[in-house]
Amino acid sequence: MPSKKSSSSASTRQNQSKCGCFSFRKLGFLAVILALLSSVVVYLEARLESFYIFTPDHLHDLSQRAVAAHGNDTRAVVKYIVGELNEKETSAHLNLDEEWVFNNAGGAMGAMYIIHASITEYLIIFGTAIGTEGHTGRHTADDYFHILQGTQLAYVPGEYEPEVYPQGSVHHLPRGQVKQYKMDGSCFALEYARGWIPPMLFFGYADTFSSTLDFPTLWATTRITGREMIGNLLKGKL
Ligand SMILES: *[C@@H]1O[C@H](CO)[C@@H](O)[C@H](O)[C@H]1NC(C)=O
Repeated sequence: MPSKKSSSSASTRQNQSKCGCFSFRKLGFLAVILALLSSVVVYLEARLESFYIFTPDHLHDLSQRAVAAHGNDTRAVVKYIVGELNEKETSAHLNLDEEWVFNNAGGAMGAMYIIHASITEYLIIFGTAIGTEGHTGRHTADDYFHILQGTQLAYVPGEYEPEVYPQGSVHHLPRGQVKQYKMDGSCFALEYARGWIPPMLFFGYADTFSSTLDFPTLWATTRITGREMIGNLLKGKL
C-alpha cells in the first residue's frame, strides 16, 4: 500500500514537471525581465532631465523671434526655427526634410513635420489650415505647444470660459493632464514633448485603426519616427 501511494504521487510529480515546470520557468524568466525592465525605467526616470537636448525657454523665445521676423509667413517661420536649431549642438539630431504627414489623434486632424524624435523628446510642427478639434490625449510627457500662427482654445471640466492661446504664446500641458482643444481656423504650432515618447505613439495611432484606416499615412509616420528614434539612439541620444 505505501509503496503504491508513493509511486502514484511520484508519477503525479513527474506529470507536473512535464507540463507545469516549464511554465514556472517561463514565469520566473518573465518576472526577472520585468524586474530588470522596471528598474531600468525607474533609473532612467530619475535621470530624464539629463537626456533632453531642447529647452522650453529657448523654444519659446525662438518661436517668438521667428514670428517677429516673418509674421504670418509660416513657411518662413518654420525655416527660421529649424535653421537656428541647425546652427546649435542640436544639429546632429534634426530631420531637415519637411516630410509632412497627416496626423489623426483624439478625434482631431492635422498634419505634422517631425523635426526631432527620440525616446525622451519630440519636436514637430503641427497644424492645419482649416481648423480642428479634439482630445489632447493623456500623455507620459510634458507638452509645450508654441503657437506660430492662429489661435488655439482649450477647455477643462469645471470651467465656464475657454483658455485662449494666441500667436506667440505657449500652451503647456503637464504630463498626465487632459483637455479638450480646438483650432477655430488656420493654426500651426511648434510642439515640443519631453518625457516618455514611445507610449504616446499608441494615442497617435489609435485613430488610424478605429477610424481612418489610412495605412499609407501610418506607414509613413512609422518609417519617419522609427528612423529618427533609432538614428538618435545610435548617436547615443536616448
Ligand atoms: C497674423 O494674422 C492675424 C489675423 O489676420 C493678425 O491678427 C496677426 O496680427 C498677424 N500676425 C502677425 C505677426 O503679423
